[in-house]
Amino acid sequence: MRIFVVNGPNLDMLGKREPTIYGADTLDSINAELSQLCSDMGIDVSFFQSNSEGELIDIIHSAREEADGIVLNAGAYTHYSIAIRDAISAAEKPCVEVHLSNVHKREEFRHKSVISAVCEGVICGFGKDVYRLGILALYSKLK
Ligand code: DQA
Repeated sequence: MRIFVVNGPNLDMLGKREPTIYGADTLDSINAELSQLCSDMGIDVSFFQSNSEGELIDIIHSAREEADGIVLNAGAYTHYSIAIRDAISAAEKPCVEVHLSNVHKREEFRHKSVISAVCEGVICGFGKDVYRLGILALYSKLK
């Protein structure tokens, strides 16, 4: 089983960026933990991060041929990128939307996701655990 873990804009700043909201862990340390989890579970995982919408779209497209599923934190693009939504649809692979913070407890503009309707499900509000939970959810769906 092959899974892509994809992070969008500003998530390369984890650890430095608003740690009271997003936690103190860096993206590299989160990915190292996920890498260990996936190796224990026999999952082949690849990690991507980009601040560019177009690059994220290319990565999601490549999942069509190269992955069985996607765990995606699209960052702020979640709230307005129809192009990323269309890329998820085009990939035709199950996608789990994740957010470190509980977006529903925050500003109103974060309450709306334009990608949820093309994702299998949404996990938010549990800090870095959302990535692990997203992988477990995909695993249950795909196995
Ligand atoms: C986020 C929530 C988004 O609203 C925000 O723009 C992010 C991170 C999260 O992980 O909580 O960049 O996706």
